[in-house]
Amino acid sequence: MPEIIVTATDLAGASTDAVLVTTFEDGLSPAVLQADAALGGAISEMKEASEFTGRFAQRPVLRTLGRLGAKRLMVLGLGKPAQLDSYRLLNAFWLAGGALRLAGVRSVTVVADPAIAVALDGGHGPARGDEIVRAVVTGLLLGNWDGGVTKTVDEDGTRDKLIERVELTGFAGDDVDAVVAEAQVLASATNQVRTWVTTPSNRLTPTELAAQAERLFQGSGLEVEVLRKADLERLGMGALLGVAQGSEEPPVMICVRWDGGRPGQPRLGLVGKGITFDTGGISIKPAGGMEMMKTDMGGGGAVLGAMWAIATLQIPANVVGIVPATENMPGGRAYKPGDVLTSRSGKTIEVLNTDAEGRIILADGLAQAREMGATHLVDVATLTGAVIVALGHATTGLMTNDARLGALVGQAAARAGDRVSELPMFPEYDVCLESQVADVANIGASRAAGSISAAVFLREFVGDLPWVHLDIAGTSWNDQGELKMVPSGPSGTPVRTFVHLARTFASLPDADEVGMGSAGQERVVERWRADVDGEPAGPGEK
Ligand code: BES
Ligand code: MN
Ligand code: ZN
Repeated sequence: MPEIIVTATDLAGASTDAVLVTTFEDGLSPAVLQADAALGGAISEMKEASEFTGRFAQRPVLRTLGRLGAKRLMVLGLGKPAQLDSYRLLNAFWLAGGALRLAGVRSVTVVADPAIAVALDGGHGPARGDEIVRAVVTGLLLGNWDGGVTKTVDEDGTRDKLIERVELTGFAGDDVDAVVAEAQVLASATNQVRTWVTTPSNRLTPTELAAQAERLFQGSGLEVEVLRKADLERLGMGALLGVAQGSEEPPVMICVRWDGGRPGQPRLGLVGKGITFDTGGISIKPAGGMEMMKTDMGGGGAVLGAMWAIATLQIPANVVGIVPATENMPGGRAYKPGDVLTSRSGKTIEVLNTDAEGRIILADGLAQAREMGATHLVDVATLTGAVIVALGHATTGLMTNDARLGALVGQAAARAGDRVSELPMFPEYDVCLESQVADVANIGASRAAGSISAAVFLREFVGDLPWVHLDIAGTSWNDQGELKMVPSGPSGTPVRTFVHLARTFASLPDADEVGMGSAGQERVVERWRADVDGEPAGPGEK
């Protein structure tokens, strides 16, 4: 983790390896014009020749030839001001950070651009200084992550080198240092998830994931309990155990508790799919691209990373995090199509396709979250290929039984620099999983609306609690290369959304004050909306 300091240097005085300035497409920013003058018009010449336009994430690096204190200058394009949001701002700095790291830059000064605040506000409203600092710092730190997690060291004892020092100059905000500290936690959590998602399944078994989580949580104040195979049998977790049957690796359910709020306050239950490798089981997947199924624990990783960040930031909310984890393998004892499993909730599941395993293990994860007192549920999973067809790699699919909780998750995502969009759960979809022999089948008769039918399955296991399902099969890893404006590889999504959502929960009144009925929740959400849209939130609120 590089050192990050707030300095009073300026563009010319910066003595770091590089200096980073931004500009929009509509004209060069004052900082870029200043650099341009110092460099004898080099940038405006590039602009006139259309070599540099300020297009989003364009990021040429120029040698400064002694005309500026830093040897190199990166000019980062931010595109059209009207299109800027926290997702694009974060991604621009993420891509910039990655390019600087690969260019061998060890220290960088970032010069603030007041036009960013104007762009985010659409020209009016309060300047969102904290939001900008958070996106800039988090983005740079995500760019400073090296994906070669299993490469051995070079002769000089290092892998690819990292940025070691970031200086910020000119940024506005009540307490820039505090926002920097928060961004460091958000970025560390995100990078931890990315490392887990990248680590192959022979190095990250369910047992190893649990061990690493326990190590990470030491000293954080989080309570962890890892349910092992015998515990799962005792508790009747027949859904998770059923999926695990085909593997020699024992399953676990990682249960994490953070009691940061008052006892009577609502409790957010985060449940993440932890399939450390998905072969498809007996309904086996084709060989091509199967290696990507090492990433099938991305949801579980995001829950664990979020729990660490929530505790590290001491967020005064009550949260439980649950990660059912197993491999999905076609071993001799594997579960088979036609098998019926009895889940923790008592509901029976007819398995019609062993490759629809994520929803099955989540059934027991959701039951465990309810067992641990969750009043609201959010699950996250690399669940369906269909969501990639629908939304690609930039947008997570959101499905819910509760528009209010859906809106809270959407707002948290907007703050976090994650993109979510809702897929409907109209009653016409309700019948798609009817089974002749069990309470529910794990796939529908047709492939149509594949992401929604998965959500219909999950909804069977949430009882009457408000619940949101996030399908991150597309957003957890951007591997297609067609989205060049989105950083490639693992994203760590939606770990930061969960941290912001926990902050929202920290500001909810006690359950008995408002009643857990829908009217009470509506009041809670109205109050929260007023906080967000009206007065700028206090520093602890952003
Ligand atoms: N883990 C996969 C979904 C997935 C696909 C994640 C691509 C990441 C990238 C999931 O377990 C799966 O196999 N889903 C099936 C469900 C089908 C059998 C109903 C799918 O989407 O094909
Ligand atoms: Mn599968
Ligand atoms: Zn899967």
